[in-house]
Order: sequence, then structure tokens, then C-alpha cells
Amino acid sequence: MTTIIPLRVHHIPQVIALMDLGAPFIRARTHSDYWAYSALFSSTCPLGEVNGEVVGSVIAMRSQDNPEEIYVQDVMVHPEHRRTGITAALLGQVREQAVRWGCRRLWLTSEPGNAAAHAAWTALGFLNVSGDYEDNGVWVKKDFKGPGKDRAVYELLLSN
Ligand SMILES: CC(C)(COP(=O)(O)OP(=O)(O)OC[C@H]1O[C@@H](n2cnc3c(N)ncnc32)[C@H](O)[C@@H]1OP(=O)(O)O)[C@@H](O)C(=O)NCCC(=O)NCCS
Repeated sequence: MTTIIPLRVHHIPQVIALMDLGAPFIRARTHSDYWAYSALFSSTCPLGEVNGEVVGSVIAMRSQDNPEEIYVQDVMVHPEHRRTGITAALLGQVREQAVRWGCRRLWLTSEPGNAAAHAAWTALGFLNVSGDYEDNGVWVKKDFKGPGKDRAVYELLLSN
């Protein structure tokens, strides 16, 4: 049974240990980054706990430039707990918060070649936004995050 809780400062070492298992698509950020997430926008940074262990994490943030949007920065589930619905539950929580705020769009990016991520986002209702080229059936925007940083972009439009 997975319990969904907000990111708090005391979880940070466990979150970093979890993210350290995420190569090649996820890398742990610094303690200071997670402190800021926990202090400034924990309501969009849910964790999934099983038997007191942090096994899933979503880091998301509401845009200040466009408050109708929430960007999902990182999604990571422990390899032994994948395909058990943890990402669905965590993103479901972020979506509920987005609806409470009247947001219109949840969006995220993933690296070309991350087939599990593509399968998860599409299963959860995200649309792969049309891009500059297709990679194994996935639309990718060239240089989206800067030179050489091509990304597949996904969005979930919310009607309030
Ligand atoms: C991508 C990732 C976050 C998915 O997390 P998850 O908790 O396993 O996803 P869920 O169990 O909620 O899956 C929901 C649905 O997505 C689809 N899905 C998820 N992973 C899938 C996979 N590897 N292959 C095919 N479909 C998949 C399924 O339809 C699944 O429902 P089902 O299990 O009932 O069939 C996880 O594989 C992961 O942590 N990967 C490493 C880190 C990473 O790449 N993060 C994304 C960076 S952008």
C-alpha cells in the first residue's frame, strides 16, 4: 500500500538516494534544491512511501510566468516498485492540486529514447506534442532545452 505525502526536509536524504537509482534519465539534484522544493512548493512535490520507505517522487512547480501551467520536472519510482501505479497516484495528486488552482495545463519533457516514460505519460493521458522530428514514433523538439538538448514534450490539458 502506497502512502502519498508531501516532500519535507527530513525526506531529502531518502529522495537523493532514490534519484541516484535513476540513471540514465534521472540524476539527483542537490540537498539545497530539494530543500527549496520542500520549503516553497511541497504541494506539487508528492512522495510515495511503502512501509516507511520513499519509493516514488514527483517534483513539479507552478509557473510564475504563466500561473495556468504546472511543469513536472522529475518523476522517479524505485525499480522494484515500478508498474504498481505509483506514478499514476503521484501525478494524480499534482493534477488535483492543479484543478484546485484553476490551472489549464500540466506538462513535462523526457529524453528521446525513454520508452518507459513515453508509455507512462501516454497511458496517463498526456499528449506527445508535435515536434521537429520523430524518434521511434515519438515527437521530439530539437534543442528544446538548449543546444543538443532535444526533448519530447508532453501535455495534459485540464478543463475546469
Ligand atoms: C517512467 C516511470 C516514472 C513510470 O513509473 P511507474 O510508477 O512504473 O508507472 P505506473 O505504475 O504508474 O504506470 C502507469 C501506466 O503507465 C504505463 N507504463 C509505465 N511504465 C511502463 C513501461 N515500462 N512499459 C510500458 N508501459 C508502462 C502502463 O500503462 C502503466 O499502467 P499498467 O501498469 O496498469 O499497465 C518509471 O519507469 C521510472 O521511474 N523510470 C526511471 C526514471 C525516469 O525515466 N523518469 C522519467 C524521466 S522524464
